[in-house]
Amino acid sequence: MSQRRTPDTITKSATPIVCLTAYTADIARIVERHADILLVGDSVGMVLYGYPDTLSVTLDMMIAHGAAVVRSTAAALIVVDMPFGTYEQSPEQALQNVQRVIDATGCDAVKLEGGAAMAPTIRYLTDNDIPVMGHIGLLPQSVEKMGGYKIQGRDEATAQQLIIDAKAVAEAGAFALVIEGTVEPVARAITAAVTIPTIGIGASAACDGQVLVINDVLGLTPKPPRFAKKFTDLAPLIDAAAKTYADDVRARRFPAAEHVFASK
Ligand code: KIV
Repeated sequence: MSQRRTPDTITKSATPIVCLTAYTADIARIVERHADILLVGDSVGMVLYGYPDTLSVTLDMMIAHGAAVVRSTAAALIVVDMPFGTYEQSPEQALQNVQRVIDATGCDAVKLEGGAAMAPTIRYLTDNDIPVMGHIGLLPQSVEKMGGYKIQGRDEATAQQLIIDAKAVAEAGAFALVIEGTVEPVARAITAAVTIPTIGIGASAACDGQVLVINDVLGLTPKPPRFAKKFTDLAPLIDAAAKTYADDVRARRFPAAEHVFASK
């Protein structure tokens, strides 16, 4: 029987919810023990594919990475991001593509970006028994419209709009809400205004949980955002391992006797 977390177990509580992104089997297998939720984020496009933003990510990419993460984990709730261009046109378009992602990956929920404008789509999905995680604040898929990666909620009008957005997403039936790149007082007000848990990224400790991009956590991102914390520094370790390997190959120290197959 599956021991996986289910969306209904992701609730507001005194202990913050832990969410991490994961895109590959090996990393997902290692980190799932420590996370309530693994998010197969469309940040995969920037982190693993070297794109400058998330706009080039396709449904097939999300399906491939979502399936790898589901296949290699057993406990965490797996949420897969809907990429740009796959859900904005209409609720029917969203359901068709979401269904494809769920059928092909076996993930537990999907995430999509947008506030009040996306509420009818979220309602349509939840009415069709699809667990949805919302995402408001800084929206990477709208980076061009937003004029760059700008922290949100600094003026009264946008702060009020974010609270309206959060309430609309919650009322549409989302089980949790990512708040990205938003000033602390607004993240705090949103968290107080909705009954679903908020999960912050660059949105302060006032949220009910936190999410970070795994490559930022591992020290693999050349220029991480200010809100990210490097919890370890793998880049120099990988560099040193590659150098030692190269030195050993060039000096004929590798492969050694224990790595070689004799004929008998
Ligand atoms: O794609 C992603 O990794 C995300 C997180 C930043 C929340 O959406």
